[in-house]
Amino acid sequence: MSGDTAAQQIVVLPRDLVPTAAALWHEAGLTRPWNDPEADCLRALDGEESTVLCLRPGGESSSPEELLGTVMVGHDGHRGWIYYLAVPVTLRGQGIGERLVRAAETWLQERGIPKLMLMVRRENTTVREFYDRLGYSEQEVVTLGRFL
Ligand SMILES: CC(C)(COP(=O)(O)OP(=O)(O)OC[C@H]1O[C@@H](n2cnc3c(N)ncnc32)[C@H](O)[C@@H]1OP(=O)(O)O)[C@@H](O)C(=O)NCCC(=O)NCCS
Repeated sequence: MSGDTAAQQIVVLPRDLVPTAAALWHEAGLTRPWNDPEADCLRALDGEESTVLCLRPGGESSSPEELLGTVMVGHDGHRGWIYYLAVPVTLRGQGIGERLVRAAETWLQERGIPKLMLMVRRENTTVREFYDRLGYSEQEVVTLGRFL
């Protein structure tokens, strides 16, 4: 287990843990060469409509991890989005991912945002079942994009 779950807290990611978060995202397969995860993270922390939440171990925790998981959340005034949802490999399957998604949902609800969207890379097939369990379903849209 990841230690004293009662003492664990979901908080805004402290700036000194940005490199740790980026390392977790890299380990979780969420980084791509064309993105700078630390810059993404700082932009989200500095933005008025975005943040990065993380689960921190409690004081008595036996976990060697400083970060038990992360999620970036933001909104465009209409829809909310999450990115960089990640839990260290050794801590998966204990409900941490769900806690982080629920925390992101709450963060959005507190700002009056009624819907949460997320993108799953086509090759990330295993995560679909995780989102199914949490009540997320495929939407009738195609996502288009262009580098600026
Ligand atoms: C996706 C991820 C965050 C899930 O975190 P987690 O802490 O292991 O998930 P939880 O323990 O909260 O799981 C919640 C539910 O989903 C299920 N679940 C989790 N991962 C699953 C998987 N790969 N396949 C099937 N079911 C899964 C759990 O069994 C649990 O179901 P239950 O409530 O019926 O028991 C974690 O696997 C991860 O970091 N993956 C790599 C990064 C990634 O792909 N992020 C998402 C990008 S879109």
